[in-house]
Amino acid sequence: MAAVNETARRSMVAGNWKMHHDHLQAIRTVQEIGLRLPAEVLPRVEVVVHPPFTDLRSVQTVLEDRAISLVLGAQHCAGEDSGPFTGEVAAPMLARLGVRYVLVGHSERRHLFGQDDEQVAAALRAVLRHDMVPVLCVGETGQERAADETEAVLERQIRTATAGVRADQAASLVLAYEPVWAIGTGVTATPADAQQGCSHARRMLAASVDDTAARAARVLYGGSVVAENTAELMAGADVDGVLVGGASLQADSFCAIVAAAGSVRSG
Ligand code: PGA
Repeated sequence: MAAVNETARRSMVAGNWKMHHDHLQAIRTVQEIGLRLPAEVLPRVEVVVHPPFTDLRSVQTVLEDRAISLVLGAQHCAGEDSGPFTGEVAAPMLARLGVRYVLVGHSERRHLFGQDDEQVAAALRAVLRHDMVPVLCVGETGQERAADETEAVLERQIRTATAGVRADQAASLVLAYEPVWAIGTGVTATPADAQQGCSHARRMLAASVDDTAARAARVLYGGSVVAENTAELMAGADVDGVLVGGASLQADSFCAIVAAAGSVRSG
């Protein structure tokens, strides 16, 4: 296998809509994004949206009909492929809708809905089983950071989630380092913190699975990303892109982030 260096990693901007936009608003939003996407950066930047489940079918249809260069993502999935799990959505259902990326272990699932490391691991395996790509979200709380536990938390989250994952699967994995204290708070990590967290995450993936795979996998930073801080956050050698919540809901702010991401490592 050819040596992989970081320039081989395509940047990524992913919008996590959380519980916003019904399917009609979603259709309008992706149409607007389609009109404003800076086409010249798309060869360098992969752009993904993660709408709520009820929007996926509508968004998929619009993207196909209008040939919009957005990739479809989902926000969560069950660890099982089917069964008596009221309210859950299974990975094969998402795969049938053309979903490519699935967020796994987002901090809101972990902290608000009690998703534990084992459930995260099961969801990650389910996504891989159905040939989609997990976006494994990891990150420390403010309390854990104050207690100097950031590295230990990332290690535990990545080790348990990737147990049994093969090197070829890990190479296509996306990790998202999202310090919990920075999510939805308007408090962004400094570029140095973002680089340090992403570099820890990459090293943990190397230690847990495989070094070459860890160099090929993309690592995103998330937490209060806006267009104005995107380029400086992505300046870190291990920061391959951003996972965006609030600023991904409107086409203009989201596309400004895509443009800013395209200005990084463009030469
Ligand atoms: P935020 O959310 O950009 O609104 O902080 C990020 C996330 O939760 O993925």
